[in-house]
Amino acid sequence: MTDSWKPRSFVIAGGTVLTPDGPREVDVHVADGVITSLSSDTPPEGTRTVDARGTYVLPGAIDVHVHSRDPGFPQKEDFGTLTEAAAAGGVTTVIDMPNTVPAVDAAGVLESKAALARSKARVDFGMWALLRSGTTAEELESLADAGAVGFKAYLGYAFSLTRKQVLYSPGLDDPDLETPPDYGTLARLAPVIARLGLPLAIHAEDPGILSAFRRPLETYSDLLAARPPEAEAVAIAAAAEIAGASSVRMHVAHLSSAPGLAAAKEAIRAGAPLSLETCPQYLWLSEEDFPRAGTAMKMFPPIRSAADRDALVDGLAQGVIGLVATDHAPHTDEEKAASFDEAPAGSPGVQTLYVSCLELARRIGDVWLAARWVSEAPAALVGLQETKGTIAPGYDADLVIVDPGKRTLVRPEAMRSRQRHGALDGMDFGFSVREVYLRGAAIWRDGRRVGGATGRMVRPARLGSALP
Ligand code: NCD
Ligand code: ZN
Repeated sequence: MTDSWKPRSFVIAGGTVLTPDGPREVDVHVADGVITSLSSDTPPEGTRTVDARGTYVLPGAIDVHVHSRDPGFPQKEDFGTLTEAAAAGGVTTVIDMPNTVPAVDAAGVLESKAALARSKARVDFGMWALLRSGTTAEELESLADAGAVGFKAYLGYAFSLTRKQVLYSPGLDDPDLETPPDYGTLARLAPVIARLGLPLAIHAEDPGILSAFRRPLETYSDLLAARPPEAEAVAIAAAAEIAGASSVRMHVAHLSSAPGLAAAKEAIRAGAPLSLETCPQYLWLSEEDFPRAGTAMKMFPPIRSAADRDALVDGLAQGVIGLVATDHAPHTDEEKAASFDEAPAGSPGVQTLYVSCLELARRIGDVWLAARWVSEAPAALVGLQETKGTIAPGYDADLVIVDPGKRTLVRPEAMRSRQRHGALDGMDFGFSVREVYLRGAAIWRDGRRVGGATGRMVRPARLGSALP
């Protein structure tokens, strides 16, 4: 089999396929990039067959929370390295956050970022757009027309008007800094976003609580004290009120705490249209991992106690938390080697999303749940439910062949991101990604990338407020 092998039609035969009716021993027939049928009928003479006996055939993951750093910080990551890491992990679509530079706050910026991404992307990609305190309804409409999957509000984070950049530690009285988006911004723009039929994602940490507890970060305990769980719970409760009043689909990014989950559960019970995302690092790690992981696990919001971790795993098992994304947020290994206070926050993670979720789902008792968390529910969140997230006739042939008998040890040398060291270093998951197909073309096989920059931008079907 050569790297240039791109047949019009082929069959993935003999694997256990996750179908809409559950796992089945069936063959997946693919033609022109699309799944044509699931059946065990003998294909026409000469049809190319991929032998998938002993494997799982899963829908490609859609990671709705990645930071490509491109344009802006190519030394940290770019669309080439991001999407190579994604392909290696069975992630066939990435949805990029808007805090690149210039930040994605206008249609023209989104279009030039998309052109840049298109020139390097090995997987499909979509774009979140930035909600600023100064954003107008007209700007939201033109961003939606340009293809944004939704809007992201970084509560409390300022925007530099000259540098066109979202800043995480803003000075207070700098005339260059636009007032950060607050609950007023959300309340003003949520009805517009609801009308556009797109989700509104939030970085949910209450700015007032963060500024009251701000302190130098000398130890891991300082980080936990500086960003307490009530900051998350308060922000979620307030955002949920706004979601309920406007019917906007409010998406909580990177949920990290038991109090945050409790606030979200309460709001959902009261009818708020809220969807919840957490990340593998909050499901696998706790503060007790700091001595091993060091600054690699510095991120906002922080990885908290074992009790918070266990509550998030329960929330996922019960289906209250619907999806898992990575908050793949690379920096350079040199930047992360700085003192704990100075090291930037964030860790790479896109490459280990699928295997870490398969392992967690297996431990919960239903390995197939992993595909719901990383593919089906994310597709619904970002309006791709008609083309991706499911293995069924008519869907894009974004397919991952996973070997359930082979383990993946997370080690820096195997990582394709520019930042090699991440929070999950040293972990060992009982699954391995063998082959990955993007719209019917192989992009990863047996530990090697295949093909070129064939990723395309995805646009959401704006179907209103069906929750994932
Ligand atoms: C993210 C980043 O570096 O862009 N950092 C982080 O610690 N999570 C920003 C974010 O997702 O909040
Ligand atoms: Zn965030």
